Amino acid sequence: MRIDVLTIFPAVFSGFLSESIIKRAINNELVTVNLIDFREFTDSKHKKVDDYPYGGGAGMVLNVQPVVDALKSIEGYEKALKIMMTPQGKTFNHEMAYELSEEKHIIILCGHYEGFDERIRHYFDLEVSIGDYVLTGGELGALVLIDSITRLIPDVINKDESHINDSFNNHLLEHPHYTRPRVYDGLEVPEVLVNGHHKLIEEWRLEESIKRTKDRRPDLYKKYIKGAK
Ligand code: ADE
Repeated sequence: MRIDVLTIFPAVFSGFLSESIIKRAINNELVTVNLIDFREFTDSKHKKVDDYPYGGGAGMVLNVQPVVDALKSIEGYEKALKIMMTPQGKTFNHEMAYELSEEKHIIILCGHYEGFDERIRHYFDLEVSIGDYVLTGGELGALVLIDSITRLIPDVINKDESHINDSFNNHLLEHPHYTRPRVYDGLEVPEVLVNGHHKLIEEWRLEESIKRTKDRRPDLYKKYIKGAK
């Protein structure tokens, strides 16, 4: 998969992309991430990418020209899925991550300032929000997309790290996990995980998943019950 990110803060991405599973996926050429600083595309003498809003009001508005020129500089942009990060977008979830992981090429625009010139929307296919809060810009949102999409691309995660049991698959949160030591500060690993056989362990895990989902996420639990019927 190829991901192009339009941002005026490309440095924000470098640390994250050079660690752990994402770094490995990039090194193995399972995903390519290109960072495009759209400030470099501005016609403005002073390298500005924002301006005062028509009609007045607080805050600055992102100019359409540098964004669209930068977008059009991307090879194959016409066919790519073009996403804008904005709190006004569709709320991101695991299902969307799965859908997006099947795309060949996505372009993600990170906004800044009060908002986008409305005409920018004309050039994009999808608006995505990572939650009901306002960030200073779309960069963190873009990283959330890149991370959650990349780990779902075939071969990015090996069998031991498998995402088959991810929380949100089957509308259930994951069961509790334990590793060594068996007792820590008086806190013990449940007996069934140590001595139980495979079937009992599976039953215990499913029960715990259901309990946990019912308790913490009644909205998900309702979907699980519906699906199980
Ligand atoms: N930009 C600012 N806030 C955002 C959010 N919640 N999601 C995506 N992009 C944003």
